[in-house]
Amino acid sequence: MDPATWQQLERPGGEIIGPNPAISFNSTYYEGQRVQYGRYSNSTWEAFERLVGGLEGGEAVVFASGQAAFFAVAVSLASTLAVAEDCYVGTRELAERVAQKGIARLRWLTSAELERPAELSGLGEGDLVHLESPSNPLLKLYPLAELARACSARGALLSVDNTVATPVLQNPLRLGADVVVHSATKYISGHSDVLAGVVVARDPSLVAKVKEARSLFGAVVGPAEAYLCYRGTRTLGVRVEHVSRTAAELAARLAARLGREAVLYPGLSAGLAGPGGQQRLGGGLISILLGSMAEAEALLAPLSVFQHATSFGGVESLAERRAKYPGEERVPPGLVRLSVGLEAVEDLWADLASGLEAAGL
Ligand SMILES: Cc1ncc(COP(=O)(O)O)c(C=O)c1O
Repeated sequence: MDPATWQQLERPGGEIIGPNPAISFNSTYYEGQRVQYGRYSNSTWEAFERLVGGLEGGEAVVFASGQAAFFAVAVSLASTLAVAEDCYVGTRELAERVAQKGIARLRWLTSAELERPAELSGLGEGDLVHLESPSNPLLKLYPLAELARACSARGALLSVDNTVATPVLQNPLRLGADVVVHSATKYISGHSDVLAGVVVARDPSLVAKVKEARSLFGAVVGPAEAYLCYRGTRTLGVRVEHVSRTAAELAARLAARLGREAVLYPGLSAGLAGPGGQQRLGGGLISILLGSMAEAEALLAPLSVFQHATSFGGVESLAERRAKYPGEERVPPGLVRLSVGLEAVEDLWADLASGLEAAGL
């Protein structure tokens, strides 16, 4: 990220009295003001939206959560959703509900289909392809520029969940995608203290539809949470670069100990991640693929620097066995997902080494 651009984006706009925007706690506004009512807009949301929209290269719309952001996209932009099977469990369940209610049709896209965009079949006008790259928790990367070309040639929209890479490492809109979705709960806010989501698009008609969905369904974020997202975004670049460096080191050491196949990490071998690639650095998530649930549980048991909790993208490192959650049956039972935080790399490695020893690995 060019620091000059970053600085410009950080200017809060409106009445500038200091580096930070005001937290506007207004549910209503005097007649004659630009906004009439708090469900339509809010100046603190707007400061955050300008910042994240500028980073992604589009216009951003903030939501109460990542789920609310995807829901707005699913119900307002498509008559058929073509959703990657390789997606966060909540996204898959929500897509299923949207389809069960008859709001949109649903079809699943396999990893094999997403890896060969030129051969994608059965897509047309009114369809929206939605995927994650990297995917959660298998951390697969999909060729976004090729997917964007394939969707556009068929009249379909491409929506990319950029939560794991963040706009620091990858900008799907600049690769041709139509829509970006974020769980700002993760790296964007960055401190495990907020639930929020964002949709970003370039086409004003798509932005207008998503905003209308937000106003109608009322999936709005509080102004204090929007401020925390703003504040988190100001340090997003340094955090994501730091966790990427630490995670790359841990992934390399894990691969040396367990074998390359046991470590899922973007950029560990040649592919779409790396300097000049689709994703500049590997990011802060690592998945370890162990042989069984018992091995994974044994590795997790002694960890103490890596804390035992779900979610990712905060300053603290977290570890969990993903397949224990209902709906995650597709995830191998021995998969441990690590979210690498800002702790010292040697402290994290010593913690992992104790887990590996306990698991006999
Ligand atoms: C990749 C991804 N997208 C979306 C979401 C949903 O976000 P939220 O929990 O903010 O609703 C999550 C949550 O874990 C996620 O991992």
